[in-house]
Amino acid sequence: MASTENSASDSRAADSRADKFARFADLTYDDFRRLARDDSLSRYEKIGFPDEYRRGFETRIFKDIRAKLNLLDGRDKKVADIGPGCSELPLMMASLCARRGHRLTWVDSAEMLAQLPDFPFVARIPARFPLDCASFIEQHAGSFHAVLAYSVLHYVMPGSDIFDFVDAAARLLAPSGALLIGDVPNISMRKRFFASESGRRFHRAFTGQQTDPGVCFNAPEPGRIDDAVMMALVMRQRAAGLHAYIVPQNGRLPMANRREDLLILRP
Ligand SMILES: C[S@@+](CC[C@H](N)C(=O)[O-])C[C@H]1O[C@@H](n2cnc3c(N)ncnc32)[C@H](O)[C@@H]1O
Repeated sequence: MASTENSASDSRAADSRADKFARFADLTYDDFRRLARDDSLSRYEKIGFPDEYRRGFETRIFKDIRAKLNLLDGRDKKVADIGPGCSELPLMMASLCARRGHRLTWVDSAEMLAQLPDFPFVARIPARFPLDCASFIEQHAGSFHAVLAYSVLHYVMPGSDIFDFVDAAARLLAPSGALLIGDVPNISMRKRFFASESGRRFHRAFTGQQTDPGVCFNAPEPGRIDDAVMMALVMRQRAAGLHAYIVPQNGRLPMANRREDLLILRP
């Protein structure tokens, strides 16, 4: 009897966790505008993450970003953060920029940017990138030393052109500049992980149940980024004269087993 009760309560706990994740699945730019205005949400929920995925992790995430965008450790650079959201990450970036004399530009919706404090060295572009900020891109093309779009690309792919997004972000780069398109969920990587022994162990620990995750390799994945999309982005930027790499996240980041980063360097 006790074990039936335990398994029913394990199953309820698993359902409630799944519900929490489902609530933030498949968000659009306009959904984020709505979340930003909802003051019943935590700062992590406003950017589409259940608290468990961000609370206590953002210092580690920022360290990983800094290791890849190492021009941030220089002085007097021009830095852009596309889709900064409103948790601690943009504040960490602002604080680093203040210490290093960088000028920072945030591009996000007016609703999201309203959640962030004003700083004299931060310019705000309240717009959806690249669709609604053509004049900003035109004016600043070739001038940014570091450009970040962290955990943004998968919200661009359904409905907007992912290649336009990356092309326009790369256009911003100054010579020797670096663009990090970080925290990209790759459905192919996810499948490889969940088909592995470590993935099965992770799934059981997450759900609290003894079932294996369902993985289907030969199925269409509309709206999802997969290996083909990642490799195509790399090939396209290389063909445009830039260095481009798919790089792993630090293994201690919360989604490192199924997300990776795209690093683009202007020679
Ligand atoms: C998941 S949150 C990530 C926030 C932050 N980069 C982080 O990792 O903590 C996605 C953010 O990107 C913004 N966003 C989504 N699409 C965008 C676009 N096309 N242009 C600018 N911002 C966008 C959303 O408003 C939201 O603030």
